[in-house]
Amino acid sequence: FQNPIGLAAGMDKTGMAQDGWGCFGFGFLGVGGFTKDPQEGNQKPRLFRLPEDGALINRMGFNNPGAAQALVILSGLERSSGPLVVNLGKSKETLLVNAPLDYAYSFGRLYHLGDVFVINVSSPNTPGLRNLQDGPALDEIVCAVQEVRIRCAKPNVRPKPILVKVSPDLTMPQLDAILTVIEKRKIDGITATNTTTSRDNLKSPHSGEQGGLSGAPLFRMSHAMIKYIRESAPALPIIGVGGIGSADDALKMLEAGANLLEIYTALVFQGPSLVRDINRGLVARLTEMNATVLSFSPRVNRF
Ligand code: FNR
Repeated sequence: FQNPIGLAAGMDKTGMAQDGWGCFGFGFLGVGGFTKDPQEGNQKPRLFRLPEDGALINRMGFNNPGAAQALVILSGLERSSGPLVVNLGKSKETLLVNAPLDYAYSFGRLYHLGDVFVINVSSPNTPGLRNLQDGPALDEIVCAVQEVRIRCAKPNVRPKPILVKVSPDLTMPQLDAILTVIEKRKIDGITATNTTTSRDNLKSPHSGEQGGLSGAPLFRMSHAMIKYIRESAPALPIIGVGGIGSADDALKMLEAGANLLEIYTALVFQGPSLVRDINRGLVARLTEMNATVLSFSPRVNRF
């Protein structure tokens, strides 16, 4: 990774805009979420700005071209912005009991195009999806995906890493159960967190909309969860995401234990120069702190 700031999943639902993201200076790109079936997603309006709160509420519902078409799109593009992190969701029509097959299908289709895969069981906008975070349900999905990985991996090449993306609304016992599955099945890492269904102290008139809340109000929850995960799993790679909008926020997430970071909502409000600003700010703060553990060079932002 040239730098630790990546684009969070759900901004580039098809993966089609990779060239553009490369210009912004991202160290890696999250694309998708992709599901087995092509989906229109929920009816519009389904995305709301809450500028007074530095937040968004979305109920997109995994609008995406489906894994087979995503393969066609991604195959036709040149890679331009570091590792590609492919986010996988479950098709709306697929019953929860058949979720392992749904994830395994998409994973198999896209295996050779992604560098890292994220099993997203934490979107609030597909009915029942978050139930798949329960230990036994997650275990089945992980096993199905790992079986496909064994088939797809080339001999003598390191198999592609698989991460699980979790909700900030989990209770600690629920998170513990997920960490147990991750350890038992040797999952490569965790992405924390997705959006929240909680609504505390929001000022915007849109705060009553249904869906997942992202941006500044999420920071405290994601930060606490990352800290907890790091304490429970000292060596587990963590992608930290949720409300990061400045170099200070980024540093706090790294200090809490994240290894890489992703942004979405702050990019919507602050624009493309945010990636450069965070990277430059991080370099400045880490230099002040004489930190040598992390050394990275932010890519030059062409804007
Ligand atoms: C998302 N997010 C998301 N996450 C995921 O794993 N798969 C997805 O398809 C989507 N889709 C999506 C759409 C929209 C409109 C938003 C705002 C968010 C969640 C996203 O990746 C991230 O976890 C949260 O937005 C929290 O980060 P920020 O926005 O606070 O930086």
